[in-house]
Amino acid sequence: MVYRSSNVENIADAKYGLAEQHKSSAGITTKKYDVLVLDAALRQSLVAIRSLGQRGLKVAALEAETAVPAFSSRWCQQGVICPANAGSEAYLNFLERWLEQNGANVIIASSDSTVALLRQYRERLEKYAQIALARDPAMGLAINKELTLEVAGTLGLGIPRGLAVHSIQDVSAALKEIGLPAVIKPVESWLWSENQEYGARFASRLVTTVDEAKQAVEELTQLGGVTLFQQFLTGRREAISVMYANNEVHASFAQWAKRTEPPLGGTSVLRQSIPLPPDTGTQAERLIREMDLEGYAEIEFRRDRAGIPYLMEINPRLSASVEIAVRSGVDFPKLLYQWASGETIDTVSSYRVGNWMRYLKGDIMTTIEAIQQRGRPGVTPPAQAVLSFAASFLKPMDYDYVDWHDLNPAIKASMEFTSSWVGGAIVKRFSRLKRSFR
Ligand SMILES: Nc1ncnc2c1ncn2[C@@H]1O[C@H](COP(=O)(O)OP(=O)(O)OP(=O)(O)O)[C@@H](O)[C@H]1O
Ligand SMILES: [Mg+2]
Repeated sequence: MVYRSSNVENIADAKYGLAEQHKSSAGITTKKYDVLVLDAALRQSLVAIRSLGQRGLKVAALEAETAVPAFSSRWCQQGVICPANAGSEAYLNFLERWLEQNGANVIIASSDSTVALLRQYRERLEKYAQIALARDPAMGLAINKELTLEVAGTLGLGIPRGLAVHSIQDVSAALKEIGLPAVIKPVESWLWSENQEYGARFASRLVTTVDEAKQAVEELTQLGGVTLFQQFLTGRREAISVMYANNEVHASFAQWAKRTEPPLGGTSVLRQSIPLPPDTGTQAERLIREMDLEGYAEIEFRRDRAGIPYLMEINPRLSASVEIAVRSGVDFPKLLYQWASGETIDTVSSYRVGNWMRYLKGDIMTTIEAIQQRGRPGVTPPAQAVLSFAASFLKPMDYDYVDWHDLNPAIKASMEFTSSWVGGAIVKRFSRLKRSFR
């Protein structure tokens, strides 16, 4: 998806809810909020809002769209709609003005686009608030898959067999070396256009033919980035979440994803908390220590058929699946806030294992995709996919968005899903499905 910046000028304060600066009787400027959660439409942002709000912190949330379930959370004291696209310069200007006028101690960001923006303009924004993201050079290593894998390689971690592909001219050589099926992924998920007017997020792709490989490379390099051409691994997906600061690991948590959306990977839609696996648990910690990557990070692995783990990537920001950690007893948003605001960081040494969580919208989408993509490597056969989808309703589990003490976001999310997705995307997907059955 490409987010184009809409050169917004003259942002009207009243329209977008910019509050007046708060001054105490002594004339000292005070901050109105403890934390500003950016990317409010993301699931992990709602988790952060709830977690921090429940702890008595004043939370505001900002998003570049209007349909944001998190704005209706009882823990969100102000929902701010930014009239510019996330990651754009107009977004940056809006954010800066909002911070100037309202004030917040800490900023939490969770999307690749916003992380890229905050990283680029960190110094400018730190005049107003602490940014709950790792600093460079660690951040630069973590958001770049090629560099991350290089560090992992020097530590002796398993990394997928692969090579860098710059353009479709390199595809034949890569095919010879790696074979098919293969996974092609951008070295960095978020890329800017040359003049930085807009950016785009690119996701990993499974390719099974030469044509698919060429097309994937062409599309993934349209903004000039480099891709990695990797062997396709078919085993279990595991993610280790780590909170690390001042040479100390304050918490580690492991989960595995039974189903993801899209089926290759990306967002985990059905997942379970597991004990820290001795291999990936240790490897994740060694990697974080080697890179000195402070704050929260999720380290993703995938195993091969024999069960040997290979590093996929690091997401150095709150990950979409983080709610299962919070519900299992590791409140990462709280630890992240403590770290960014300079408080003493709690250490969490255990959590509940065996908990299941499901992201229903993602599960519906991935079941539809399994039917559409039937026969492709790694895709569950249609009948089995539908059966597993239905069987998951019988298993006790928590659902993303659903919190019985804060129901509005779940209601809003369901309404939004029914109106926009059922009306648009699902119908589109089913009509494609009908076509593909002809
Ligand atoms: N070589 C591979 N073999 C098999 N599966 C893979 C491979 N590379 C990636 N995947 C799957 O796709 C998922 C997404 O890939 P990756 O983490 O590299 O990209 P990403 O787009 O940055 O993901 P995220 O949305 O989690 O940030 C992986 O977690 C994994 O499940
Ligand atoms: Mg990623």
